[in-house]
Amino acid sequence: MQKRDRGLATTTMEQKKLQDIQEDLERSRSWLQQIQHDCIITNKTTSDQLAKPLLSHANNFSLVESPVSAKLRIYQQINTLLETIKWDFGGGCPFEKASIMADLVFTYNLKTTVEIGVYRGRSLLPIALAHKLSTHGIAYGIDPYKLEEALENDTPFTEDIEKFCLALDFDSLHKDVLNLIESYQVVEHCILLRKTSEEAISYFIDNDIYFDLLHIDGNHDSEKVMLDVNLYLPRIKAGGFIVMDDCFNWESVNVVYTQLKSQYSVILERFDLNIGADYAILQLPQN
Ligand SMILES: C[S@@+](CC[C@H](N)C(=O)[O-])C[C@H]1O[C@@H](n2cnc3c(N)ncnc32)[C@H](O)[C@@H]1O
Repeated sequence: MQKRDRGLATTTMEQKKLQDIQEDLERSRSWLQQIQHDCIITNKTTSDQLAKPLLSHANNFSLVESPVSAKLRIYQQINTLLETIKWDFGGGCPFEKASIMADLVFTYNLKTTVEIGVYRGRSLLPIALAHKLSTHGIAYGIDPYKLEEALENDTPFTEDIEKFCLALDFDSLHKDVLNLIESYQVVEHCILLRKTSEEAISYFIDNDIYFDLLHIDGNHDSEKVMLDVNLYLPRIKAGGFIVMDDCFNWESVNVVYTQLKSQYSVILERFDLNIGADYAILQLPQN
């Protein structure tokens, strides 16, 4: 009798678990459909590859946490994280971009990523979280947190940027990001260098560090963006990714992006100012 009860209880539990997994799947399917619908996908093959890991597990129900629900757990944590980090004129990575970068980390098992231009950490923290929860890798973030470095000259927003930056307290911005790294317990997966990208490059050369993903979102002057590309591109591994921010709406960034685009495969181009999306993802050849 006891045995039968336990059997019944187990069956009910398993059914509940299956139901949870099916609900997870439905949510992730509609999330994926929305992303695919929203995106201007320029490279169909690669976008299918990006989608595959989610969908191929769709029929693979398991009573341990499925890869699908593991991914959803990461997206939920990123969503919660972004709710706590302010979005303003100085920076504002939308959830969609943060989750796509996290998706690259766990889909392609990326171990080492670098971000130029951290600001409040809306893009660095989600990437670090993805490393913590999936690949156990490291997200490097570079930002000098200095007024003179934050000013920009060849954008239509020069005056607005100056006004905005003069009101910022760079020391406390830096401290806030260090606190976030602690409070989200990603200390082992996130290294913040308070340097310009030009100063930081020697750290990576001296320590023989190469990257699977480079996120360029520092100073938007053409000359600075070009410098970031020239310094960091040689340190991206074969098959690695470049995520470039503001490459459509900012002429100064767009000129550099246009050059890169002629050399590397475009995986995704995204421009929807309603949700603050203005970025592209490129991939280097495999060898
Ligand atoms: C647009 S914000 C970054 C936004 C952030 N990635 C996000 O998504 O929320 C640009 C940042 O680049 C930083 N920056 C300016 N010059 C830099 C340089 N030479 N190297 C690295 N970061 C730089 C600024 O201090 C600023 O915090």
